[in-house]
Amino acid sequence: MPSNAQAISLCVFSSFATYAILRVLHRSEPSSSSSSSSSSSSSSSSSSSSSSAKSVKSLIENRRSVFPKQYNGDIIPKATMKDILDTARWAPNHKLNEPWKFIVFSGSGKKKLGQFLADEYKATAGDSFNQGKYTKKLKNSEVTSHIVALICKSSNKTVELEDIASTSMAVQNIHLYCTAVGVGMYWSSGSVYANGKKNDRAVTNSESVREFLKIEEEEFLIGWGYFGLVEGGEVGGKGVRKEMEETGRIRWVE
Ligand SMILES: Cc1cc2nc3c(=O)[nH]c(=O)nc-3n(C[C@H](O)[C@H](O)[C@H](O)COP(=O)(O)O)c2cc1C
Repeated sequence: MPSNAQAISLCVFSSFATYAILRVLHRSEPSSSSSSSSSSSSSSSSSSSSSSAKSVKSLIENRRSVFPKQYNGDIIPKATMKDILDTARWAPNHKLNEPWKFIVFSGSGKKKLGQFLADEYKATAGDSFNQGKYTKKLKNSEVTSHIVALICKSSNKTVELEDIASTSMAVQNIHLYCTAVGVGMYWSSGSVYANGKKNDRAVTNSESVREFLKIEEEEFLIGWGYFGLVEGGEVGGKGVRKEMEETGRIRWVE
């Protein structure tokens, strides 16, 4: 199985998918009242596309992980969750195999999951077990509206990495849209250890987790999505990142 880091690094491409979606949406919208100060009736397509580009960039830059400690315990309506999860299918994916799959926990299902995750932590943490952490896990699931198992279904080893990349892009679509509609979200690796080994914690596919989720052979968990509402509804904000070229993340060959 490819490393989590590989999947994460490919996630960034979803920005482009989202850009395309919002651009299309913007074009199909009737010109709204929020246009800029100039009162021109002939709003040129180039100025509208540049304001669209700015808002998409701003959405991408201001998307933030929003954690359970920030949630107020309110429940996100099911219709809103459906709308949010629907954005996943517009992620690009190899040969349209649409590898993403989500198991959505809410209500008593979420309570069972929260208890299960806390107990799994207890069962696998060994000497590092910390009662406070255990209690926090239970509390986190209580204040969270929905917890979603983020699953990749890939039956073909040769495209498995690409399938994980696409599933990650699907999650980025979800995350960006959450920011746009004022829903808090973050991707959690989960603090349970695969095979009972502390260093194997990154991708949480222990037998017990797989059994709990009832996932098939060719499916694997790539993380958990936590969704919740925050007081005032403001979920975006300034983030911390280094400049691309400063860190040698781009090499131009011209
Ligand atoms: C694959 C993946 C796994 C993550 N796992 C965790 C986690 O287990 N715990 C956590 O606090 N944050 C986790 N995060 C969220 C990161 O902490 C967060 O994205 C990072 O701090 C940058 O913050 P931002 O999303 O607000 O830009 C994860 C994010 C990704 C994409």
